[in-house]
Amino acid sequence: MLSTVQAKLLIVDDLPENLLALEALIKREDRQVFKALSADEALSLLLEHEFAMAILDVQMPGMNGFELAELMRGTEKTKNIPIVFVSAAGRELNYAFKGYESGAVDFLHKPLDIHAVKSKVNVFVDLYRQSKAMKQQVEALERSRREQELLLTRLQATQAELEQAVRMRDDFMSIVAHEVRTPLNGLILETQLRKMHLARDNAAAFTLDKMHAMVDRDERQIQSLIRLIEDMLDVSRIRTGKLSIRPARFDLAQLVHNLVENFAPQVAAAGSTMQLVVEGPVEGNWDEFRIEQVITNLLTNALRYGAKSPVDVRVYTEHGEARVEVRDRGIGISEENQKRIFQQFERVSASHVAAGLGLGLFISEQIVAAHGGTIEVESQIGEGALFRVCLPLEASV
Ligand SMILES: Nc1ncnc2c1ncn2[C@@H]1O[C@H](COP(=O)(O)OP(=O)(O)OP(=O)(O)O)[C@@H](O)[C@H]1O
Ligand SMILES: [Mg+2]
Repeated sequence: MLSTVQAKLLIVDDLPENLLALEALIKREDRQVFKALSADEALSLLLEHEFAMAILDVQMPGMNGFELAELMRGTEKTKNIPIVFVSAAGRELNYAFKGYESGAVDFLHKPLDIHAVKSKVNVFVDLYRQSKAMKQQVEALERSRREQELLLTRLQATQAELEQAVRMRDDFMSIVAHEVRTPLNGLILETQLRKMHLARDNAAAFTLDKMHAMVDRDERQIQSLIRLIEDMLDVSRIRTGKLSIRPARFDLAQLVHNLVENFAPQVAAAGSTMQLVVEGPVEGNWDEFRIEQVITNLLTNALRYGAKSPVDVRVYTEHGEARVEVRDRGIGISEENQKRIFQQFERVSASHVAAGLGLGLFISEQIVAAHGGTIEVESQIGEGALFRVCLPLEASV
């Protein structure tokens, strides 16, 4: 590693023949020697290159070697370059050099002792290479430290995400358990009641009328269990990218019309009303079963969170899209929560109203997106909410 570092050497002397002789002495394959005939020339080379050392003739016309050295010590880029002064033996040694203490300085005397020159240059070049290599190592260490820091930050982010996922799963499990228990409790109570009547031979409890009501209640409980399981299956289908869409041509207006009609009992039970406005058939290629699921969730939500307010439903076309709007005048959704509600298991905690699993909108958005469409919400707290489903009229699936 050390030998790969090219070392640049600067030699300064006003006599060309001295320069040539010195160059011949110190030249080597892994060194580049730069020659300057004056201090000025030397300065411009010093600014341009990074030198391992400089050998300065003390006696030069104009700026002498000591003056040049002082300038070098005063400049950031050159102040740490080791300097070797070349002087006539015994004469200029008394010259004061102010920068002496601040860096590596040495002397060579004329006539030059070949061995002394070579060994001094070797020492400084080795020093230069070592400090260069050290610097590279420090830089590499710093780089790897920064990489580690980055990695750690990423790791911490992943950990936080994982913890959040685990928390969500725990919450989900307790919501599911609760949601499953409600219909099951209803069923087991019914069963116990029937057993009690049977034990007492109470035939009056099993008249046709009462049987009808019983079967209806059982069916509702079982349906809600099935819906719960279907929703959870859909979520896992979405997670594994297996939510399939089977498009076929149908009239969206007709579908919504039928749904609104079928919702009459729920509308009545919620103490609300539901109004539908349709501008004529809206035909397209979509998965009817899946779109029904989306609209059903919007209608259920409007009744659930609509605070008995009238619900307005509209089917129309605009900008090459089929659109269904469901509007209620209920509790509304804050801007911040409008982003959350489309995520899985997200239920706005402020709405204590009988809530579901918080999967409806998540599944709906995925279904609509799989059709190349969008689902948007416009709402303000206390002013109800408007959900709009937009589906491309031209088949994109
Ligand atoms: N029309 C609405 N008005 C006010 N808040 C709403 C409305 N629709 C949805 N929300 C809020 O968005 C949340 C998410 O709705 P989403 O349909 O995804 O779940 P859910 O209705 O709670 O349960 P699920 O649909 O799985 O039975 C709801 O819990 C509710 O807080
Ligand atoms: Mg819902």
